[in-house]
This record gives sequence, structure tokens and C-alpha cells, in this order.
Amino acid sequence: GVGPGSLNANKLFLGNFVHSKTREELEYLHSAGVFVDTTGVIVAIEPECDLAKAREHVFPRLGWESEHVQVVACKPGQFFFPGFIDTHIHASQYPNAGIFGKSTLLDWLNTYTFPLEASLSDLNKARRVYTACVRRTLSHGTTTSAYYATIDVAATNLLADICLALGQRAFIGRVCMDHADLCPSYYRDESPAASLAAARASIAHIRTIDPDFSLISPILTPRFAPSCTSDSLRGLAALHAETDLPIQTHISENLPEIDLVRSLFPGSSSYAAVYDDHGLLTPRTVLAHAVHLSDEEADLVARRGAKVSHCPASNSALTSGTARVRRLWERGVEVGLGTDVSGGYSPSVLEAARQASLVSRHVAMGLAEGKNRETAKLTAEEVLFLATRGGARVLGLDDAVGGFEVGKQWDAQLVGLAVVDDMGETETHDGKGGDDAGNVDIFGWETWEERIAKWLFNGDDRNTKMVWVRGRLVHSRQ
Ligand code: GUN
Ligand code: FE
Repeated sequence: GVGPGSLNANKLFLGNFVHSKTREELEYLHSAGVFVDTTGVIVAIEPECDLAKAREHVFPRLGWESEHVQVVACKPGQFFFPGFIDTHIHASQYPNAGIFGKSTLLDWLNTYTFPLEASLSDLNKARRVYTACVRRTLSHGTTTSAYYATIDVAATNLLADICLALGQRAFIGRVCMDHADLCPSYYRDESPAASLAAARASIAHIRTIDPDFSLISPILTPRFAPSCTSDSLRGLAALHAETDLPIQTHISENLPEIDLVRSLFPGSSSYAAVYDDHGLLTPRTVLAHAVHLSDEEADLVARRGAKVSHCPASNSALTSGTARVRRLWERGVEVGLGTDVSGGYSPSVLEAARQASLVSRHVAMGLAEGKNRETAKLTAEEVLFLATRGGARVLGLDDAVGGFEVGKQWDAQLVGLAVVDDMGETETHDGKGGDDAGNVDIFGWETWEERIAKWLFNGDDRNTKMVWVRGRLVHSRQ
């Protein structure tokens, strides 16, 4: 049958649409229609549109036959929002989400992270972990993820297969780590050559399952400077120059890590300079964390056009520090959001957006009273921009996803906020009632801006009713 997400049907979405117009502003379209063709591309957006008008005026123009069009209409309290973009998540660490104790980065890696990642060379275990991770992130509205897998090529390939099968847009990073002194003997590449050969093998696999990288793309993934030799860093830069594939790594997350980088790379003037000196600071580079970058480093990152993945939940959990998004923006660096599971405890980008808001307030509280203190705070609009359009720019996808425009792909979520009826019963429109997160608009007096703020601060996956990637329904909540 032709379901609301089948690939071979044209689709019409009717109702409320909310997306970022600019960094500062959300755009609200009400009673609108968005027309998505069989390839998942938005081909028309009509304001003041209902089914009758669509049938009479728009379908003929598009050459669509009414009886074959799938229609999804918002119920009261529902709206369409662009799918979330997670610019930094370790699929391989998903079982550890929430486990970090009082550790900080370097002991956290050795205590919790490397043993778990190493164990995923068991492909049965990898399949269960990766399937759970992709299903769960889809259920939270994540339509694109930039994943770190592990050093194991077969398991990394499995993650690519699972993303393709479940329909999530994904960047798949086979983790490179070959520094004998800094990586555990049970979990490292044997040599720079072996590390590069493994990276190439993982790229070759993705080429066989998605030749144009239209949904799944490889991403070159030197774990971070301390776990890599100069030779492997240079080799990955050469591979980037050859393929133009994106690059992801970590930078300047905590202070002992920065000291370690200084001692390992005495010839480079800063952490950012280490990557630059090895040819890895490019417009396609995604740098996670960037908590402690100096102004000079931020300027270097901006000059090279490299991007930052802000991981607020992780930076708080591992007590890494408070990253200053406003300062990065002011210096011309593009920023997106990362859950950084499992440094971050939650697979939800909505949670990351909420944490970005709170962390920006901690940044503000650390500043003297005055203009900077006010401007450090990120608004609801700004953190939702980070979660969608900002992430699209960070991953080089801004022509394809991140907002609702003709020519972009339909990567979207249907969000439902509960409303309460006259008897005080929560009505959730899905026949169950009562289980939505606290988004009750009892008297219908809230503005849409207030509803969005309540979703941001109180919402969760219960509010994520349906999720589409490239026009395909990839999650729905019964
Ligand atoms: N730095 C190097 N590896 C990691 C990792 O797995 N998570 C985080 N948060 N930082 C890292
Ligand atoms: Fe990370």
C-alpha cells in the first residue's frame, strides 16, 4: 500500500510550518501547503492553501493526479519543523549514554569509552547498538547525523548499512587512531598506513551501497590530535584533497587535553594550528567542542572556513567548560549542535538546544554586567537555528536541508503539543491522551512564539509524531 511515507507517491503537507528565517528569527506559515514530489524534493509552497485549493490549482500545475497524492494535515497544536541535524554523535558510545561519573575527558576515554568501542568488533553487538542508536535518534527527530563509529571497518560498514536501511541521512566516520603511546594496545591502528587503508575501505563500502553519497556519506575522522601521528593526520589531509570528503575531529575540549597537544606537537603554535599545519582545517572540517579556543585560534578557524559543533550537554557532563557560541559567531565561525553521545548524556538534539540555551546563560553569568553579558545569552530562535540550519551549514548541506524552501529536500518532523479540554483532560490527538510532555495550552491564549519556547524547554520524543527524510516516513509514534 501507499503509506504517508512511501517513496513513490507525491505528498502534500498542510497546516503550520515553522523554520528559521535567519539566525534571530523563526518564520511561521499557517494554513500553508508544502508539495513534495516522489524524489522527496519540495516543488511548491503555497500560503493559504487547503486540499480543495491544492486540487483545483496546484496539482494540475504540477501534473499530479489527485487520487495518488498522500496528504498529511496538522491537527490542532501540531506543526511541521525541519528535521534536527546532529553534527557530532558517537553511535558506538550509545550504550554508555548517562554513564560518566565524575570523570573528565582523558580518564573518561580510558575508563568508559575505549573498552566499549573496542567491544563493537563483535558484529552482533555492533548491529544491536547501531540499530538502537539510529532508531532512537530518528524518534527524537534527528534526520541527519554526523557519526563516529569505531576503528573496526566491518562494524563501521554495518552502521552505514543500518542508516541507509532505516532512512537516516548520515555521515559515517571510521575512527582513525594510531598513536602507540596514547591509544590503548587493545584499541588502535597498527600504523599510519593501516589507518589510511581502513579509512579507504570504509569509503569504498559506502560507494557500493550509495554511489552518489546521496543519503550516506563517508567522513574522514582522525579521532583527535593526541590519538593520531603526524603521518596519519597528513595522510587523511591528502585523502581529503583527493576526494573532497568532509572531515570531523575534536578540538580544545578540556585543559589537560590542550596541554597534552602542546607537548605532543611542540612545532605548532596552538591546537588549531596543529590541524592547520597538517592540512586538516578546511571548509569541510567539523571541529567538535572548541570550548577553550583563543581568539587567534577562532580567527584561524574562521579564515579557513572550518566549522564548529557545539556540544553543551557533553561539556557540562565532563566539566570540560562553557563554549562561547556568540563569540564564535562574532568572529565569523559557523556553528551547529552536537549531542556528543556519550560524553553527552542524551541522544536528543532538542535537549542539546535546551542545554545550549542554559550554557549560554552560564557564559553570561561569568561576564561583568553590561552589553556582553546580555548578548552572550542565546534565544530560543537562535538555538533552534543551531539545531537545523546551522547544522546544515556545518555539514555542507545548506542547499539540501535545514528549512522549507522549494528545491530543498523534505527532511522534517511533525511536532504535536498537547492541548487540554474543558474537563482538564489532556488531548493528544492520537487517541491515547495524557502522555505528551508538558505543553498544555489550556485557554488557547499562547502565541506561537510561546508554544515554541514551551516545546524547546519541556518537549521530548513524545511530541515527535512523524519524521521524514527525503520524503520517506522514517518514524511515527503510535
Ligand atoms: N576526544 C577524543 N575522543 C573523544 C570522544 O569520544 N568524545 C569526546 N567528547 N571527546 C573526545
Ligand atoms: Fe565527541
